[in-house]
Amino acid sequence: MPITGCAYYPEHWPRERWKQDAEIMRKAGLSVVRMGEFAWDKFEPQPGKYDFAWMDEAIDILSQEGLKIVMCTPTATPPPWLLTQHPEILRVEPNGVRVSAGGRRHSCANVPAYLRHSRRLVDTFTRHYGSHPAIIGWQIDNEFGCGETTRCYCDHCRQRFQEWLLEKYDTLDTLNAAWGTQFWGMTYSDWSEIPIPGITTEPQSPGMRLDYRRFSSDSWVRFQQMQVEFLRQNAPGRWITHNFMIRHWSLDYWKLAEDLDFVSYDNYPHGLRGPAETAMNLDLMRSLKRKPFWIMEQQPGRVNWHPYNPPVPPGQVKAWSHQNIAHGAEAVVYFRFRAARFGQEQYHDGLLKWDGSFDQGYFEAQEVADDIKNVPPLTRPQAKIGIIFDYEDLWTVELEPVHRDFSYWQLVYELYQHFWEASIPVDFLPRAADLTGYETVILPCGILQHEGEAEKWSAWVEKGGKLILTFRTAVREPGSIAVNEALPAGFTSLTGARVTGFHTAPPATYTDWPDHRPGTAVISPQGSSIAYKIWAETLETTSGESLFTYKDGMLAGKTAITHRRFGKGSVVYLGCWVTDFEPILGSFKKKPLQEYLLNGEDGSTWRITFDTADFSVQYEQVESGTS
Ligand code: GAL
Ligand code: ZN
Repeated sequence: MPITGCAYYPEHWPRERWKQDAEIMRKAGLSVVRMGEFAWDKFEPQPGKYDFAWMDEAIDILSQEGLKIVMCTPTATPPPWLLTQHPEILRVEPNGVRVSAGGRRHSCANVPAYLRHSRRLVDTFTRHYGSHPAIIGWQIDNEFGCGETTRCYCDHCRQRFQEWLLEKYDTLDTLNAAWGTQFWGMTYSDWSEIPIPGITTEPQSPGMRLDYRRFSSDSWVRFQQMQVEFLRQNAPGRWITHNFMIRHWSLDYWKLAEDLDFVSYDNYPHGLRGPAETAMNLDLMRSLKRKPFWIMEQQPGRVNWHPYNPPVPPGQVKAWSHQNIAHGAEAVVYFRFRAARFGQEQYHDGLLKWDGSFDQGYFEAQEVADDIKNVPPLTRPQAKIGIIFDYEDLWTVELEPVHRDFSYWQLVYELYQHFWEASIPVDFLPRAADLTGYETVILPCGILQHEGEAEKWSAWVEKGGKLILTFRTAVREPGSIAVNEALPAGFTSLTGARVTGFHTAPPATYTDWPDHRPGTAVISPQGSSIAYKIWAETLETTSGESLFTYKDGMLAGKTAITHRRFGKGSVVYLGCWVTDFEPILGSFKKKPLQEYLLNGEDGSTWRITFDTADFSVQYEQVESGTS
């Protein structure tokens, strides 16, 4: 069955309380406890002097109540003595200022001292706990990138970046050509001349900045890899995961997921717009490894870190928990067991209040455990709809949005939401995905060109696939320089159409140059019209047909959306950001309830239905299992 658990910090509470806490956890039906992620200072109070006795004791007490442990490597918070010995561990901001100690996640992934000490600590720590019978698995570190910390701008990073570039491009000629450094006189004649992003008078080269994002993401993937290696050796038979974040993209999560056994996700719905965006994040997490994932932190009530921190209505924590399971989570671990009495998160709820009395979340966690006790482990089957999600495309657009409201995430969200409202399952796919089994695949703003992609996908279209490409697809070479061919580059024979021009559509509040507007809507041959925003490309068809033309403004009469039948399938090119996707994606009956079909481990089929308005949830076995 799916399981529940909580994050616990024995180091925050007197020893005498641990036993009682363990009993309370058991009574809430929790079965796992996650610990250790910020306790490097307690595990190694002085350089090289380790103390694991307190944690050993906490584990004993918890396991006496039948609780299993998820242990974390505590590298997110190097202890004060280490930061004093090696102040260079602390990250540097783009303005050259080194951050102060006292927060967390403030280390640079490229500083030798941090790497050396992390290796030593992780090795010692995982040797001590690797074979502990109560520990079922490991979380590496905590939320890489949290608090905008993926990128650092210190001298170590600059040097490592230059080495990374040497490895990638081999010669400076290749690098200069890939970035187009002849622009603004930036041709490099020595690797040491290459800068990193910083405060400049004008923006720096998009190629350099894109590569810096790739490099910074790779730096943490490598840091994680180092820990994975120790764990594989020292913790045989235990799974390894890391907790990923909501609406986060400074790290390439496809790459970060690769070395892990499964992905974990920290679900704080108040950081998102509502149930549809929560669902989108959950589906992205499930898709990263195409298998069940864990919720390693579930919002238990009110949080403290938003500009406003609204109360959580009764039943909401329970509904969030079930939504996780419906999207393929096999565990829901609440953050945190008891609200902190000190530190930066005192205003953050726990299952228990400061004084140890029960908070609303406790009762709801208890109900959840009860609701799922007869449900087998569940897996989501492959969806029919695939949306490609690519971090490099996102970065490329984010670096040069051209229109300030152009957001890759928003575009993906609007596409996803269209299906979510009708309860139609969606998988997210990496750019290199095999499209077999999907009926419809959407490539939203696939701005970077990938050699051979169109040929690969045309075979799938020919067999019946429906491919939807949007504006800003295949516009840039991998170094972020414009392609030297018709757009969408490489796809024009598949689309049967090419782009003749692109325009941005300022919002109505922008009142300068009133005549300089592409227009407001597109119109089909049948006369139905749809408004568009932000981006508008004009198209010219060859073997494709025009589906919608611009209705008014400067672009009136020009083609905006095209369609081409090819083999048994079809290709749509969407030239503008329409405000209603129905005519493009199909019209589906909106469902008042969210409905999910999942496969039970025993071969059964389950339907989970839940109402996002009144939080009612139903688990129903619709087909029985064979085993
Ligand atoms: C997460 C983090 C936790 C805690 C929590 C508060 O991002 O992993 O340590 O800070 O937020 O909501
Ligand atoms: Zn650095």
